[in-house]
Amino acid sequence: MHLTKLSDLSVEQIMGIIEEANGYANGQPLPDLSGKVVANLFFEPSTRTQYSFEMAQLRLGIKPLTFSAETSSVQKGETLYDTVKTFEAIGVDALVIRHPDKEYFGNLLGKISAPILNGGDGSGNHPTQSLLDLLTIYQEFGRFEGLKIAIVGDVAHSRVAHTNLEVMKRLGMEIHTVAPAEFQEPGYQWENLDDVIESMDIIMLLRVQHERHANGMELTKDEYHQLYGMTIQREARMKKEAIIMHPAPFNRGVEIADDVVECSRSRIFKQMENGVYTRMAVLNQSLNSMEKAPSFDSTLGTPFIPV
Ligand code: NCD
Repeated sequence: MHLTKLSDLSVEQIMGIIEEANGYANGQPLPDLSGKVVANLFFEPSTRTQYSFEMAQLRLGIKPLTFSAETSSVQKGETLYDTVKTFEAIGVDALVIRHPDKEYFGNLLGKISAPILNGGDGSGNHPTQSLLDLLTIYQEFGRFEGLKIAIVGDVAHSRVAHTNLEVMKRLGMEIHTVAPAEFQEPGYQWENLDDVIESMDIIMLLRVQHERHANGMELTKDEYHQLYGMTIQREARMKKEAIIMHPAPFNRGVEIADDVVECSRSRIFKQMENGVYTRMAVLNQSLNSMEKAPSFDSTLGTPFIPV
């Protein structure tokens, strides 16, 4: 099973991943996927997604192959397609790919049989981030229907926002969008943070995606923080049980005040922890839905058919 866009999955499939990940969070025994090898191809910088995928692989007994675009034949002009075909030819069981091109997977699907797990495609999709966000919300509230969330910041350039906006609507959440005019896009109603802050269950902040802006941000960092940032004053106005989320990396003093990052409402580090459980569930479901092709067990030194 590929996982390129969350919109390809039904609500039942999404809930299946969340339930499995929540089981791991609660200490449920882990499946043994030793003998499997997964390649991690990151063509854009990453800390959380790359290393939590790698941690998930190690916890399940999977051997990770970590690829570096800087020291690979990409430097000789090799295309993404030929790079992916190479990893398939040398026998990987799945590939985790992050790439700056939106929907980079369009010309891979149908030609690559190993599952592709999308670790982010430009400003398009980030399915595992959204799943870990949903797991965090589910653990907190035990439901999605009727929850009020404000997604705040650089919506136009954020794959996290785009993925969450689609799936949260399907899950029956009430979504509010807040962004400076330069980061708005058609199709949403734009509101002021101060008008919604007191009624939201969740405030999800987004990083300003400087690397995706052609001409920088119009607002200064201070102006952004005053109008769109999670300040201590705004945090104090939130509902009693409401939580703050951010996919990270966060810019202290821009999207979020230094003192709010680790406040009692913040679930930012919980989101990171949940990233490992979520990616374990995604890896398990993808690898198990594959046809059981022979794979190579290095401890035996002979090919074997996994049972
Ligand atoms: C996000 C990403 O890369 O899209 N980070 C992440 O995966 N945790 C958000 C971001 O970089 O702003």
